[in-house]
Amino acid sequence: MFEYAPAPESRDIVDIRPSYGLFINGEWVEPQGEERHKTVNPATEEVLAEVAWAGEADVDRAVQAAAKAFPVWSAMPGAERAKYLFRIARIIQERARELAVLETLDNGKPIRESRDVDLPLVAAHFFYYAGWADKLAYAGFGPDPRPLGVAGQVIPWNFPLLMLAWKIAPALACGNTVVLKPAETTPLTALAFADICRQADLPPGVVNIVTGAGGTGAALVNHPGVDKVAFTGSTEVGRLIARSLAGTRKKLTLELGGKAANIVFDDAPLDQAVEGIVNGIFFNQGHVCCAGSRLLVQESIAADLLEALKRRLGTLRLGDPLDKNTDIGAINSAEQLAKIRELSEAGEAEGAERWSPACPIPDRGYWFPPTLFTGVAQSHRIAREEIFGPVLSVLTFRTPAEAVEKANNTPYGLSAGVWTEKASLMLWMASRLRAGVVWSNTFNRFDPASPFGGFKESGYGREGGRHGLEGYLAL
Ligand code: NAI
Ligand code: MG
Repeated sequence: MFEYAPAPESRDIVDIRPSYGLFINGEWVEPQGEERHKTVNPATEEVLAEVAWAGEADVDRAVQAAAKAFPVWSAMPGAERAKYLFRIARIIQERARELAVLETLDNGKPIRESRDVDLPLVAAHFFYYAGWADKLAYAGFGPDPRPLGVAGQVIPWNFPLLMLAWKIAPALACGNTVVLKPAETTPLTALAFADICRQADLPPGVVNIVTGAGGTGAALVNHPGVDKVAFTGSTEVGRLIARSLAGTRKKLTLELGGKAANIVFDDAPLDQAVEGIVNGIFFNQGHVCCAGSRLLVQESIAADLLEALKRRLGTLRLGDPLDKNTDIGAINSAEQLAKIRELSEAGEAEGAERWSPACPIPDRGYWFPPTLFTGVAQSHRIAREEIFGPVLSVLTFRTPAEAVEKANNTPYGLSAGVWTEKASLMLWMASRLRAGVVWSNTFNRFDPASPFGGFKESGYGREGGRHGLEGYLAL
């Protein structure tokens, strides 16, 4: 095997301010309260910046700015709104390297992923919805679909800028204005996006960014001036939001957790499947709602597949996320690391067998080695609960019907993967799997043109594609 020399991306390209205010009505403003919190680099625990935690009065100010901007923005011809979205997309491309480094610093994900996956998809999403802005009458929602008003959007920390793009691009294309709250551990790329809105000359108030934690998010989604709520995050908080919005006129879309099955049949090309399994659960440290966290492998090939998989896991490089050779970066927070540890310990206690490759762990920061569990029963917590970390539970099956039954035996239903050379089997499986996305001989592949969303406790509504417009239009 080759030795790797360190190849760190330079962080000089990013300019992080020591402290940030809130972005309201096109300006940086000071919050009314005193509360400020530090955001850290999870790979080093170094403090990157201090951000404001917006209170109710700040959220109110942001919602009012968005409401004031709505008449002008929604009345603008779609072709004009499209120009702003195209401009934002191009600025993102121009600043892609800077944004990728910033994302990696604040989130802990490998630069290879922020550079090659997140940022290209962020730009693609804005380009894609720019294309819809002047074609809404042809989107299948009637001849004159209208926007809803002010969208209150709350996003998680696993794909900070990408989730921002998924929320903001369709909202603006449809003529809505936005107040967005990034996650408390990863606010920096959303704050950089505020600068991009200024650079693009976006009219003041069309996009507002308020930082803070759950309290700020609750103030936003419960604000009476908000017409639409879009949330991505835990099922627990999604449930809370659904409960508090029930009976109001607010339109709600929820994208929640998952416990996806990645199903490998005996005729699948093994090496390709191994790559897909690795990408399915170790991409982004497994902090992926649609991660292939349950491997279902046909019994007759289980031993061979596991041997190949273990060999491959031994080659994954864990460490400095800014190093271009790194495959596995840092866990996003101490809280998430504690949760991954707790569930992994439960897996052992319940009788599954735990395995990790030899893998040096850095002294500082939050880290968890790639881990797999064999001998997993469907009743084990590691087979049922979302771990949201680099931990794979391996189960076996004998027949396609058994694979379907096991795959669907979960309260979630966001995604699934099927590996087989037989197209007939593929289609048979896809029509029976209760999952919003079914990947065929691939996994974790995203495209702005293709709708994404869940069944059951994974949420409702779709993001991406023509379907993604629906949540932002009055039908
Ligand atoms: P979370 O659901 O608490 O946080 C997501 C976002 O919601 C953050 O911006 C947070 O500030 C905000 N939020 C929290 N409480 C809120 C409330 N009452 N009202 C409005 N907004 C609120 O998720 P957390 O605590 O970061 O992670 C817990 C678990 O959730 C993870 O271990 C993982 O299993 C799952 N998760 C799933 C995600 C997904 O993409 N489906 C994303 C993040 C977490
Ligand atoms: Mg939480």
